[in-house]
Amino acid sequence: MTPSIPPIASAQLPTLLACMPKTELHLHIEGSLEPEMAFALAARNGITLPYADSQALRRAYDFGDLQSFLDLYYQGAGVLQTEQDFYDLARAYLAQAATNNVVHTEIFFDPQTHTARGVAIDTVIRGLARACADARRERGTSSALILCFLRHLSEREAFETLEAALPFRDQFIGVGLDSSELGHPPEKFARVFARCRELGLHIVAHAGEEGPPAYIWGALDILKAERIDHGVQAVNDAALMQRLAAERIPLTVCPLSNQKLQVFPDLSRHSLPALLDAGLCAMVNSDDPAYFGGYVNANFEAVFAATGMDASAAYQLAANSFEASFADASAKRRWSEQLQACFERAHDTRA
Ligand code: HPA
Ligand code: ZN
Repeated sequence: MTPSIPPIASAQLPTLLACMPKTELHLHIEGSLEPEMAFALAARNGITLPYADSQALRRAYDFGDLQSFLDLYYQGAGVLQTEQDFYDLARAYLAQAATNNVVHTEIFFDPQTHTARGVAIDTVIRGLARACADARRERGTSSALILCFLRHLSEREAFETLEAALPFRDQFIGVGLDSSELGHPPEKFARVFARCRELGLHIVAHAGEEGPPAYIWGALDILKAERIDHGVQAVNDAALMQRLAAERIPLTVCPLSNQKLQVFPDLSRHSLPALLDAGLCAMVNSDDPAYFGGYVNANFEAVFAATGMDASAAYQLAANSFEASFADASAKRRWSEQLQACFERAHDTRA
């Protein structure tokens, strides 16, 4: 049952978007590497970056499509060398998440980006897992890790990565699929995802970011994805929209990412309002906040300003973010109560 949403004055919407509790389920930890931290880690590890300073690096973040972003993203990740580097990276993201009133986050990491450079998978997972444990203890932020396979590499390499990660099976809750989408359909990874399902891992996959709706069908039918990352191209397929709505398959939508990678001509033309209107379980995320201009609250702020969505859409997006997570039912109930209380407070304090 949808709880009744108290009327909210539109002037209060920006504050409400920032203050409301939310989860973040589409966040690549390597994409939270801010230029300042990239330079600090490069200095610590004796690496020279091909930019004069952090401002020059930030100025290079001008992307035409997904691939032009990925080229810089993989280059940037080269400064991550030690367990402490991965710890510091995740700790900085988790601090931002807390500031954005993120109550729970499921964090993607790309082991192959690091093992290809000779960094052991143990180093990656130990550093990230320690930061998650500390954030829970110190701030009460709930978090989990999702291991992503790089889809521009082979299925054999994905199997090798899975094998190397299995000693840390209790440190990650699921697997995903990211990197260059076009030309790398879900079918390419059918067997490795089948093995992951046997292992009891949750399944998510990027699909329908730049790729066609057929890639979303493939992620659902072949990989058995429980959630679709991006999925914004679903609006171009009416039968797919009906299925996503009927089965409440969550879409982890990333407005500023789509804007920066020119998935839509303009943020005002983003498909998020249409996805919500059709009853889909869409929710808002930051994807790669250091590269795309902001953390999750900046994404809410920008997409609401551009599309004119209202307070009931804000409520729905936050509620969807709880539903879409892999957290347990009691945590979801607690966050839903916090959301309701947050809207009631905003209603009571209106001018
Ligand atoms: N799409 C695909 N791969 C990625 C992304 C993305 O948005 N971010 C980091 N890796
Ligand atoms: Zn992504």
